[in-house]
Amino acid sequence: MSKETIREVAAAIEEAEALIITAGAGMGVDSGLPDFRGREGFWRAYPKLKAMRLDFESIATPAWFDEDAELAWGFYGHRLELYRRTVPHEGFSILLELARHKACGAFVVTSNVDGQFQKAGFDPERVLEVHGTIHQNQCSARCEPVLFDTPAAMEIDECELRARPPLPACPRCGAVARPNILMFNDFDWVERRTEAQRACFHRWLREVGASSTVIVELGAGRAVSTIRHISERLAGSASMRLVRINPRDVDVPEGHFALAQGALPALRAIAQRLSG
Ligand SMILES: NC(=O)c1ccc[n+]([C@@H]2O[C@H](COP(=O)([O-])OP(=O)(O)OC[C@H]3O[C@@H](n4cnc5c(N)ncnc54)[C@H](O)[C@@H]3O)[C@@H](O)[C@H]2O)c1
Ligand SMILES: [Zn+2]
Repeated sequence: MSKETIREVAAAIEEAEALIITAGAGMGVDSGLPDFRGREGFWRAYPKLKAMRLDFESIATPAWFDEDAELAWGFYGHRLELYRRTVPHEGFSILLELARHKACGAFVVTSNVDGQFQKAGFDPERVLEVHGTIHQNQCSARCEPVLFDTPAAMEIDECELRARPPLPACPRCGAVARPNILMFNDFDWVERRTEAQRACFHRWLREVGASSTVIVELGAGRAVSTIRHISERLAGSASMRLVRINPRDVDVPEGHFALAQGALPALRAIAQRLSG
């Protein structure tokens, strides 16, 4: 990456009055979290699922909560515990600091379900989790479209990737609970929490209006490209500039910036430039 680009990116960030942070699974990689890049990447993170020949799209479906809830909770419970013990990397603090200096503030839009932005200190009222969150549950039988807290701790047999009973249950009807995450082939996801967050985001966007805005996108993959689309759609507006940070999938629309680096080194380079 050339020094010119870092200088230009830092200048674009400094001049902007508002900051939108868009993030996919790659944002967590420098905190030690796996992304699910390709089948091989996914299976590296979950060897048991490799042995079962189950890829991400096959295991991340609500049908497993009916067919084999211990396996379904093995997968999601393992992720829940992992995200709970993960400490967000320094790049989150750098973003928080950038946000603090913006007249219109900042908003986070992420497909991550791990809650790392809130854990790092971002205002929960300024976070849109487009695919939901692992930290809230809903009823798998959808007796009522309400959310409830995940249990304080889950016991997982990590080799077999199976949760040990008792499994999380719906407090209303007793059916097995499931995370409030939008899965594949999922017609029962309770969207109301994400809808409320989306309404806040749109309200904030209206407040920001035509003020100059920089979108910093980090670690958004192509396989489920929701976040890339959101960034590019926003970047179509004249007041917005996009900075795409990704060590590989780095092509970017004309007139915007791309940094072919990991999230943490790129953010450190930007912070250094801004303080220098
Ligand atoms: N932490 C989480 O919540 C989590 C983790 C994995 C997957 N998911 C879900 O899986 C789906 C696929 O997500 P995705 O497209 O974001 O992920 P993905 O795994 O398909 O892609 C990850 C992207 O991050 C990039 N990347 C890898 N290392 C990086 C680094 N150090 N810094 C910055 N970027 C890096 C990769 O090049 C890739 O483009 C989404 O629905 C997402 O919600 C969530
Ligand atoms: Zn229920």
